[in-house]
Amino acid sequence: MLTIYNGVAVITLDNPPVNSLGHALRERIVQRLEAALVDPAVRGIVLAGTDKAFSAGADVAEFGTPLQFQEPMLRGVVAAVEASHKPVVAALAGVALGGGLELALACHGRVALESARVGLPEVTLGLIPGSGGTQRLPRLVGPEAALALMLSGEPRSAKDLAGSGLFDAVVAGDLVAAAMRRALELADTGAPFPRARDRHPEAAQVQTIVDAHRAKLQPRQRLQPAYGALLDSVAACVLPFDEGLQRERELFLELLPSAAAQALRYQFKAEREATRLPADLQAAPRPVARVAVIGAGTMGTGITIAALDAGLQVLLLEQDEAALARGRQRISDHYRGRVTAGKLKVIMAADNETRLAITTDWARLADADLVIEAVFEELAVKQQVFRTVDGYARQGAVLATNTSYLDVDAIAAATSRPQDVLGLHFFSPANVMKLLEVVRGANTAPDVLATGMALGVKLKKTPVHCGNAFGFIGNRIYNAYRRQCEFMLEDGAWPENVDHALTAMGFAMGPFAVADLSGLDIAWRMRKAQAATRDPRERYVAVLDQLCEQGRLGRKSGAGYYTYTDGKQSTTTDSNVRGLIEQASLARGITRREIAADEIQRRALLAMANEAARLLAEGVASRPADVDVVLVQGYGFPRWEGGPVFWARRQDRQRLEAELQQMAREAGHGFVLGNLDALLAQ
Ligand code: COA
Ligand code: NAD
Repeated sequence: MLTIYNGVAVITLDNPPVNSLGHALRERIVQRLEAALVDPAVRGIVLAGTDKAFSAGADVAEFGTPLQFQEPMLRGVVAAVEASHKPVVAALAGVALGGGLELALACHGRVALESARVGLPEVTLGLIPGSGGTQRLPRLVGPEAALALMLSGEPRSAKDLAGSGLFDAVVAGDLVAAAMRRALELADTGAPFPRARDRHPEAAQVQTIVDAHRAKLQPRQRLQPAYGALLDSVAACVLPFDEGLQRERELFLELLPSAAAQALRYQFKAEREATRLPADLQAAPRPVARVAVIGAGTMGTGITIAALDAGLQVLLLEQDEAALARGRQRISDHYRGRVTAGKLKVIMAADNETRLAITTDWARLADADLVIEAVFEELAVKQQVFRTVDGYARQGAVLATNTSYLDVDAIAAATSRPQDVLGLHFFSPANVMKLLEVVRGANTAPDVLATGMALGVKLKKTPVHCGNAFGFIGNRIYNAYRRQCEFMLEDGAWPENVDHALTAMGFAMGPFAVADLSGLDIAWRMRKAQAATRDPRERYVAVLDQLCEQGRLGRKSGAGYYTYTDGKQSTTTDSNVRGLIEQASLARGITRREIAADEIQRRALLAMANEAARLLAEGVASRPADVDVVLVQGYGFPRWEGGPVFWARRQDRQRLEAELQQMAREAGHGFVLGNLDALLAQ
């Protein structure tokens, strides 16, 4: 839209929902700019967006398609704006991200609403800014502030960045009027319009800052080519401007087709897709304003914080006053810590805590729209809780269990209303972890499932729906993966070999370090519960049980697979652990051999992909990409590797099948091969 008022042409970007800069919008911007430039009534130009978005940047859906390269490309639009002989001022409200911010950087002035959020999140998509961002931003705010924004990829509020050199003004009132005033001011000065390109960064300073950031890159950042490329590109801002742009372009084009960038784009899409139920399961969610959480332990308090942070009223219920007081204290401590760390304003913390009520009186559940149970992981305890809840909750309230492994239907059967029951499987810490598995029981009503998904979005989580099966999606895959890693111990690897190989490919932690951290007794208890039904012909590695029998329960007991001194993990496992592993190999008649890191990585991925295929065939997961979202959001799988499904789809199918068959042979009785068709279908 182009509106001319009082000598200023306001060009309003109009590509809902977030003004991504697809080809059609780019074309419209250039056309309107040209119209404004030839109109004698126009002295200045304002580029504006909507309240929600100035622009969320390049159209991610266009990446890898010819449209991305169809003229006018974004850098052409940016160049046209910069070269305009009438001053162009960007009016920033909502988000100005990626290419959206790059467009604003090329303007002669920028005025932002205090609440506007700006950022260059390209690294989160495996890219660097490709339309001048790495050259103009350091010139405007200095290399340190520019790198901080680009390396984090996180948007910052305009209010925070006022005074950084990015904005001519940060306003609270009428944004477009302020931008129009600025455009007329620039038109009236008679001086050349300010342009980022005309500034000259100091070469030695840029180099020092780039080197310092390069030295500080995290191991997981080093595994992703975009981070190094970003530093290279910023280093080029000391070159003559057009040479710097050229260098940025080369680096951008190298990254665009990279496996990491493809995987990150895939995750971007899959995460958004996951929040939507498939067509046959869609329904209008029930309204939820009041939530009750039962159990004020680790999970209950985390869920409470997540719900308070989302603006909900929360009632926290415990079985006794002492446990309730401990839980309440944990929540207060959390908010106090956030305030002290400067992460939360005291007024917001107070508001959140005001919305929290605590009780041991079950009758108070009557007000809740949704009840989430987070008590001990024992079926009888949970069934008793649900029986009681059934007696107090109002008709139509949604009843959820946070069980990790128990049968949601068996819990629902304790109520008179199994249609209102579902699983909401949060991950620890529940106020931090993004993943939420929304579990559909056999009788769960469609609007109850939809309510669980909507709650997940409200809590700013990534909800993934799944069927009711042991371990749901995440723990099922994780168990298959961990089992395969245990086989590798018997075959010849030490725990540290496995852990190193997997962290080297980007896992947050290896499986044996994770087991130590969560406590080996959790798995031990479950193994003991399953012992009676375990087929003796199944390949079973008993090392974990033997460690527990020795009192090595993991980090909390000072030893597990590793030993811990002052909380610091040993780099290698000790002779005791190695002895147990060697005995396991001997008992199975295996001659131990060295297993290379790439074999370890491949076997771990194969095990996960096979289990994913099984989950799809069983209908526990309904979309292949959901599995990848679960692994990335809940289990530390490297996001830039896409996930086990993404990985499997890039393998040669024949090789994949041959390797899986070998894996099945080596695992022996009970190993079920998944059908790869659904997994590999794109
Ligand atoms: N290109 C294309 N589509 C985009 C987009 C982009 N850059 N940014 C967002 N969208 C789409 C989303 O896919 C979603 O579409 P859908 O509803 O069909 O799934 C819709 O816009 C809304 O996005 P969503 O993330 O669900 O909404 P939100 O209000 O939570 O967040 C943003 C809005 C803009 C903050 C967020 O989408 C975002 O950060 N986008 C990415 C920005 C980015 O990385 N830009 C640089 C590209 S190199
Ligand atoms: P926890 O032991 O820290 O807390 C459980 C709380 O429930 C305790 O405070 C206890 O007093 C309370 N409680 C027990 N019986 C009760 C009853 N009848 N009525 C009211 N309150 C009762 O346990 P947790 O780690 O928070 O786990 C809770 C649930 O969440 C379990 O089902 C667990 O499997 C699941 N879960 C845990 C994790 C995790 O990492 N801890 C992750 C996902 C899911």
